Formats: sequence, C-alpha cells, structure tokens
Amino acid sequence: MRIAMIGTGYVGLVSGACLSEFGHTVVCVDKLAEKIAALKAGEIPIFEPGLDEVVAANVKAGRLSFETDIAKAVHGADAVFIAVGTPSRRGDGHADLSYVYAAAQEVAAALDGYTVVITKSTVPVGTSREVEAIVRRVNPAAQFDMASNPEFLREGSAIEDFRRPDRVVVGCDTDRAQAVMREIYRPLYLHETPIVFTSRESSELIKYAANAFLATKITFINEMADLCEKVGADVGDVARGIGLDGRIGNKFLHAGPGFGGSCFPKDTLALLQTGRDAGAPVRIVEAVVAVNDARKIAMAEKIERAFGGVSGKTIAILGLTFKPNTDDMRDAPSLVIVPHLQAKGAVIRAFDPEGGKEARKLLNIELCKDTYDALDGADGVVILTEWNEFRALDFARVKSLLKSPLMVDLRNIYRPAAAAAAGFTYVSVGRKTAKP
Ligand SMILES: NC(=O)c1ccc[n+]([C@@H]2O[C@H](COP(=O)([O-])OP(=O)(O)OC[C@H]3O[C@@H](n4cnc5c(N)ncnc54)[C@H](O)[C@@H]3O)[C@@H](O)[C@H]2O)c1
Repeated sequence: MRIAMIGTGYVGLVSGACLSEFGHTVVCVDKLAEKIAALKAGEIPIFEPGLDEVVAANVKAGRLSFETDIAKAVHGADAVFIAVGTPSRRGDGHADLSYVYAAAQEVAAALDGYTVVITKSTVPVGTSREVEAIVRRVNPAAQFDMASNPEFLREGSAIEDFRRPDRVVVGCDTDRAQAVMREIYRPLYLHETPIVFTSRESSELIKYAANAFLATKITFINEMADLCEKVGADVGDVARGIGLDGRIGNKFLHAGPGFGGSCFPKDTLALLQTGRDAGAPVRIVEAVVAVNDARKIAMAEKIERAFGGVSGKTIAILGLTFKPNTDDMRDAPSLVIVPHLQAKGAVIRAFDPEGGKEARKLLNIELCKDTYDALDGADGVVILTEWNEFRALDFARVKSLLKSPLMVDLRNIYRPAAAAAAGFTYVSVGRKTAKP
C-alpha cells in the first residue's frame, strides 16, 4: 500500500514509521519545513523510546520518506491519514478542527484515483462527515471513501503500542474502504489483534469514551487517596485490593498529582462539549474535569504545607513532563504546580531527563544538569514525575545535599518506611507521612 500521513507529530511520525515497518510505502508530511528538514537529516524531533531506530531502518529500506508538499505525497496514494493536531479551542473547550479542515482541503485538491481518506486525529463525532463534505466540495470528481481510525498509542511506549495494540478501531461505510483498512493492518493478524469495524460515528466516539474512562479512573483513585489520608488508609493497598478484581483492573489506579498530557485534558473537555451540544451531558466527566483541575492546586498546597510555607525556600523538583519517557510538556501538572509555588515565593531548581528543552519554553525556572545538581542546597525535594532514574536515588547523597531531609513524592515511588529509615520526612499521596 502507498500511504500519505498528513501531520508528522507524535502520532503521525510513530504511525507513519510503524506502517512502513509493516511493509507499506509511507510519506510523512508536515507543513513545518524545519521539522521535515531535520527528519531528512536523520534527526528525530521528539523523544520517544525506539522511534529513532524504526525511522532509520525504514528510511534506509526506502519505505519511509518525508515531505512538505501534501500534493506530492497524496499523488498515487491508496490511503491518506490525517494526523494533525486537534487542540482545545480557546475559550470554549471544543476541539479546534481548523488544522483538520485545512489539511482536508489540501488533500482533496491532490486526490487522484481511488483513495481512502482517514481521520487518525482525535476528532469529535461528525468530523469525518464534515471532512467528506469538504473533499467533495473542493474536488467533486474525487473517487474516495472516508474512514475513521483513532489512535490509542501512549507516549513513552508508542512503538510497542502501535505494533501490538489491544485493538484497532475502524469506522467506515463501504466494503472497498474496509478492504483497504484490512490490508493496511494485515500484519497485526499475526498477533490476532481484534479489529473493530463500526460506523464512523461510533469510531469517533470510542476514542473519546476510552480517554474519558481512563481519566475517570485516575481521578477516582486520586479522590480515594484524599479519603485515605483523612481516615488513615493506604491508597496503594486500596488500589491493589480493588485492582485485582478483574472487572476493575489494576491499570490507571496510581494516585498522583492529576492527569495531564496532550490527550486527556483536551479530550475530556471536547467530550463535555459534544455531550452538551447533543443534549446528553456527560456529568461524570464534568466532575472529573473539575476535580482534576482543582487537584493540581491542591498538590501545590500540599507541598506548601510539607515545607511549612515556601516563601524564600529553594525547592528541588524532579520531573516536569506529565509522565516519564516523553519530552511532552503539554498540560503537565508541573505547569500549574511550579508557578503556584513561585507565586508563593519559592525558588525552583528542577531537573527532567528529557523535558528540559520544552520546559524552558513554558516555565521560568533554573534547569539543572542532573538530579543531584538540582538537590544541591535545596530546602527539600519534590518528585513530580516518576522517571526511572528517580526510583533509586542514593538517599545518603540526597540527604547530604539538601538543607533538610524533606521529600514530597507525588508519585508514591518509595516505601514510606524505607524513606523514614533513611532519615527523611516523607510526604506522599494517599498514605501516612513517614518520619525518621
Ligand atoms: N500524542 C498522543 O499521545 C496522541 C495519542 C492518540 C491520539 N492523538 C491525537 O492525534 C492527533 C495528533 O496529535 P499529536 O500529538 O501527534 O500532535 P502534534 O502537535 O505533535 O503534531 C501535529 C503535526 O501536524 C502538523 N500539521 C498541522 N497542520 C498540517 C497540515 N495542514 N499539513 C501538514 N502538517 C500539518 C503540525 O505541524 C504538527 O507537526 C491529535 O488529534 C491527538 O489528539 C495523540
């Protein structure tokens, strides 16, 4: 199959690279000329484990290439994926579809021969029909079918997720489009990956429902964590105790500073708008969004309490990205927590293994060269992201660098007893504070 991938961001680049690994010939397009130039020069614009190898191998094999000109990529393609961004629209939380529609217009003008045009971006119900109307308007002679194929990969494990997804969801109305989509994902039949064929509307809603459900699970355990602190229970035990129930499952039950990232915040907001517009408000998700927004401030206040006020204090922050193994800073809890602490007079020394470059654009803080550099002379340390390298800190060295042995761990990566035994006052989430 010849495939054009419009938008070479996290999803477009990973999907394009992995589809070329499946054996298809893929051209990834982006309007950012510098991004395409970098990719042509062998540089990967994002941090995603394993992506550089997949890209390099498939470029070398001649199956993967990069282009700024949509028309060149679309010409002769059997399938065109639209994987551009759909951020929250300023002011109202609706998904901003301007990039999708602009891409659709350019794609439409370049279509030749039968092509399946696929929305891979996360888009509200009805967008695929709107894209179809745009294509027909711009190019009435075009021979094409529309499909919706939302992406479920997670940043940080995106390659493995694409190679071995739990399922592939495809919304389309014609047998011909279905045959093309089957052919694109044929290599996954080896792993017996379920492919859910459905209507385009269901496919679009599946993506939002999945993200909203996962965001709800996180928010649920976060509220349980608050309750645990009040009643002397341990949220780790509660999560394990409920997670072993097969109907509940143990994933997404880690209490923390609230969900962030490039998807959950904007997708929950967009789902709320869809529900309101359709006259079927999604009240559970309304609560999830409100609780999660409040949680980030609550976590900043928790840090303030742990430090006995932060005015004039230096705080070492470990981790700024919304989760480990990515450099993505979009909607990271750190973007709320750090400015709150600064407004209260704290001086921040931070280290993130990969997020520093992005963080520098969004936060006005001192970025340190490594963990121990950040700790040097600070009044205490706050763990905001559970990068592996923070999981095995040399406690003796940490203690010797800090002015006082205070550790606030918003990811619960240590056992309270172990931290206390090492001499720390250890404040975590949904568990009793441990003292030496
Ligand atoms: N990031 C994730 O983990 C993830 C996971 C699943 C789904 N999604 C969804 O996938 C979509 C893309 O997300 P992302 O994180 O990859 O976004 P991104 O911002 O990283 O990448 C989007 C890219 O599209 C390019 N672009 C925009 N308009 C274009 C045009 N007309 N022609 C060519 N290129 C154009 C931009 O320059 C940018 O490089 C979103 O709808 C998102 O919700 C993202």
